[in-house]
Amino acid sequence: MKKNFLAAFTIAAVVAAGTATALAWTAPGGGITGSRHDINAYAKQNTDGLTVQADSQERVCAFCHTPHHAYDPAANNADYLPLWSHELTKKNYAPYASDSLQASIGDPLIGPSRLCMSCHDGVVAIDTHYTNASETSTTAAQLTGDIFSQKDSEHGAVGANDSLISDHPIGFNYIDAKTADKNAGGKLKQGIREETATFMGNVAGVAIKDVLHLGTTMTCASCHDVHNKDNVASTVTDASGTTKDSGMNYFVYAPQNGSQLCLTCHDK
Ligand code: HEC
Ligand code: HEC
Ligand code: HEC
Ligand code: HEC
Repeated sequence: MKKNFLAAFTIAAVVAAGTATALAWTAPGGGITGSRHDINAYAKQNTDGLTVQADSQERVCAFCHTPHHAYDPAANNADYLPLWSHELTKKNYAPYASDSLQASIGDPLIGPSRLCMSCHDGVVAIDTHYTNASETSTTAAQLTGDIFSQKDSEHGAVGANDSLISDHPIGFNYIDAKTADKNAGGKLKQGIREETATFMGNVAGVAIKDVLHLGTTMTCASCHDVHNKDNVASTVTDASGTTKDSGMNYFVYAPQNGSQLCLTCHDK
């Protein structure tokens, strides 16, 4: 048990551990219903000890989208809110930086990344959406944090300490970075591939350009498929040559074995 867990979560986690049941998430590529991004399913079967409230009508999309009265991008200082219903993160993040980076990062949360951080910021409750009573509740179901800020106390969650310095760069123009990389010399050359390359092992044939926001910008959604449609299985082969599911998913567009995800974009 990590020592800096909030006391309330520690108690809840202990209770949950005693009642843990086998998880039955849908397979990679199986779509959003029943995936970890189906908050109703998460409410029913999560073992993280969080109090998550299902939607009163068990709608799946509603935690993120709504057909009416969605958040207005202009009023919320955001560039991309596709009929968005989930309370937005109020945090700003320092971008990734390094001596060898060619990419030029403006707002790191440009495009869908801000939407991801609306749940993965560790502050906004994951069950918060426009008609959910818990949004305004001051009693039980309102989460004050989420699993991502508590799971790994040593390294922190994605975007820990309001900084993306420990996270793969996002929020830059891929095409420009690729061109700068082509012109770079020696060790600075990172082997960034053409955006027309398809993700290795992705049967749907998803190409890098398909997952760049507006065809250019690298975001969280350039590696992760939030709707779990084009995500791929992650398998491992043991010493006897038996191939089995690794048990990890992560919604990524290319298999993790052999780091096919990374090698899709980096010629290393
Ligand atoms: C966990 C949050 C979440 C849920 C639940 C969710 N979406 Fe999305 N949706 C997103 C995000 C984030 C984006 C932006 C992703 C991107 O640009 O790749 C998006 C984008 C979209 C888009 C526009 C761009 C695209 O990728 O097609 C459509 C249409 C869409 N969602 C439909 C749906 C429908 C229909 C459902 C329910 C069956 C659903 N979504 C459930 C988060 C969600
Ligand atoms: C409505 C809230 C919500 C939004 C919006 C959201 N997520 Fe999630 N995400 C969750 C929850 C809940 C889980 C399950 C947590 C767990 O299993 O520990 C999760 C899990 C994940 C996982 C881990 C999956 C696994 O197999 O362990 C990844 C990766 C992820 N989300 C990426 C994203 C990205 C990228 C976006 C934006 C494109 C996004 N999420 C938007 C709530 C959200
Ligand atoms: C370059 C690809 C890439 C980008 C961009 C990316 N991720 Fe990931 N992410 C991964 C991979 C791969 C994993 C699986 C864990 C691993 O291999 O270490 C992962 C794991 C995760 C997890 C699971 C828990 C954890 O911390 O390991 C979450 C949540 C997550 N990512 C969210 C995000 C969010 C939010 C963004 C944008 C701010 C983002 N990712 C951007 C590749 C990426
Ligand atoms: C969708 C394409 C894409 C995927 C997938 C991807 N990367 Fe990257 N990565 C890039 C681009 C583009 C850059 C920016 C390179 C630059 O501008 O110098 C980058 C930057 C990096 C950097 C920082 C380099 C520096 O100079 O600081 C590292 C390290 C890296 N990636 C490793 C990985 C690893 C490991 C994976 C797999 C988990 C991965 N990448 C997956 C496109 C990708």
